Amino acid sequence: MDIELRNIHKRFGPVHANNDINVKFSHGRIVGILGENGAGKSTLMKILSGFQPADEGEILIDNDIIDYTGPTAAIANGIGMLQQDPLDVGAFTVLENFIYGGANGVTLRRAEAEAQLKDLTARFGFELDPHQPIDNLLIAQRQQLEIIRLLALGVETLILDEPTTGISADQKDILFNALRRLAHDEGLVVLLVSHKLEDVIDLCDEVVVLRNGLMVGEMDMPASDANLTSAVIAQTKQQLVTMMFGEVLEAQQRPHYEIGAPVLTAKELVVQDQRLDMQPISMTAHAGEVIGLAGLGGSGQELFMRACARLQRVNSGRLDFDGRSSLNASYRQLFRRGCVFGAAGRLEEGLIAGLTLTEHTALVADDKLQIDWKSVEKQTAFRIDRYRVKGAASDTIEQLSGGNQQRVLIGLLPDDPKLLILEQPTRGLDVDSARWIWTQLLERCQRGAAILFNSSDLEELVTYSDRIFVFYAGRVHEVPDASQTTIDELGHMIGGEFLAPIPQPPPAISMAGIPQGGKGSNGG
Ligand SMILES: Nc1ncnc2c1ncn2[C@@H]1O[C@H](COP(=O)(O)OP(=O)(O)OP(=O)(O)O)[C@@H](O)[C@H]1O
Ligand SMILES: [Mg+2]
Repeated sequence: MDIELRNIHKRFGPVHANNDINVKFSHGRIVGILGENGAGKSTLMKILSGFQPADEGEILIDNDIIDYTGPTAAIANGIGMLQQDPLDVGAFTVLENFIYGGANGVTLRRAEAEAQLKDLTARFGFELDPHQPIDNLLIAQRQQLEIIRLLALGVETLILDEPTTGISADQKDILFNALRRLAHDEGLVVLLVSHKLEDVIDLCDEVVVLRNGLMVGEMDMPASDANLTSAVIAQTKQQLVTMMFGEVLEAQQRPHYEIGAPVLTAKELVVQDQRLDMQPISMTAHAGEVIGLAGLGGSGQELFMRACARLQRVNSGRLDFDGRSSLNASYRQLFRRGCVFGAAGRLEEGLIAGLTLTEHTALVADDKLQIDWKSVEKQTAFRIDRYRVKGAASDTIEQLSGGNQQRVLIGLLPDDPKLLILEQPTRGLDVDSARWIWTQLLERCQRGAAILFNSSDLEELVTYSDRIFVFYAGRVHEVPDASQTTIDELGHMIGGEFLAPIPQPPPAISMAGIPQGGKGSNGG
């Protein structure tokens, strides 16, 4: 199937999210959809996959104008989009979801469905147990199920909007190999929205670039079978960045600030959790220090951060914030003393759907009993400007693009915190926005804040952390100097291979049973 978009327009009030987009996507090609936050990428993909109607314009499939409304109709026309938060049903098993989400609904025979599921799973090297409840699956496996479901429905164009967030390097390889196979061997069109330029260069055959609703460029990617040297990758990346932002961005260096007094000290802290066997964690974060937490989603790092903010129970150990035990404190009390938690969940936790940007500012205002709306409006305008949020004070939060929601969330942080605990602070941000946010965060560091953050972006961890703690299945390993590790090494570590393991003496000498201490201090 070949697809053509002609003169596509979409407006949201004053925002021209898609402004006369003309583009063709050919069968057998993997196309990257690039552009800064708010450029109009998701909007265009939602139009193509039926989640949103265009205001004007035409969609042609194999040269015929096709009119469809709604995602079901789009799928019937062979176009399917992988949702960022798959619409599967948690309590059901993989197989049940496959059956209920399939074309024949419940009428498809179980045995038949299971055979089809197993066949597709094997064909793409996926790892899906038909009888696992969905709740037990990793993000990557939910994605796999969604891809298989769409393929079983006969989709010939597969759209993925930022699919590599929160999945491991191995899982990404599996996903990318499946996508290559689908496009190059089976002739599907694969469209990939992503801010991770290395991924795009690795996977895509070509890219289209949007800026401010306009299509500003197209480019072929270097063939991956050719010599994809690091020099070629770096040069291509530079070209893409220039197309996206209209300027060359300098490589960012993390300035190091004087390390001050301890701000947060965890000593043999055991976080409570039903599923993970959380091992004791010892860690001290000092003023001016950035501590990065690495690990696949659900390896214990999120629980640890929440425990530090007193949003998660602990079983034993010590936890001090700013010189005082915080084990009996609530998050509200810690917040008043300068500890701020920024949740990754954007719409689920950090931000509130239905509220405008102004109302969000009012929520974090000092005196909630008597809101001074004039000053709240002024502050909102100031933050929109300072964090370069594409949106108006009167917009509700869900009207913003993903990256702009994240900017609002960061913009709501107080100016002089003692400790920032941030879940994935740059998730979904474009390269320029991510750097901008880090400049803001590091300014707070310079003024004496300690930062504890996690990220699925290994480059971000290596670039901005002083020290890194790697989590794997509830176990923790410290990398005492982040500048001495590489993205590659870190990639192995988050898969459970803790490099530089504590040397094990031969059995004959260890019989004294003396515990072998390591510099990691937490039994990694
Ligand atoms: N439902 C909506 N209501 C109002 N405005 C919207 C809506 N959806 C998108 N917009 C606006 O349209 C513009 C494009 O948004 P879109 O989500 O397509 O951007 P994007 O390129 O996907 O950005 P990101 O990289 O941040 O995900 C943004 O300015 C956004 O605020
Ligand atoms: Mg988007």
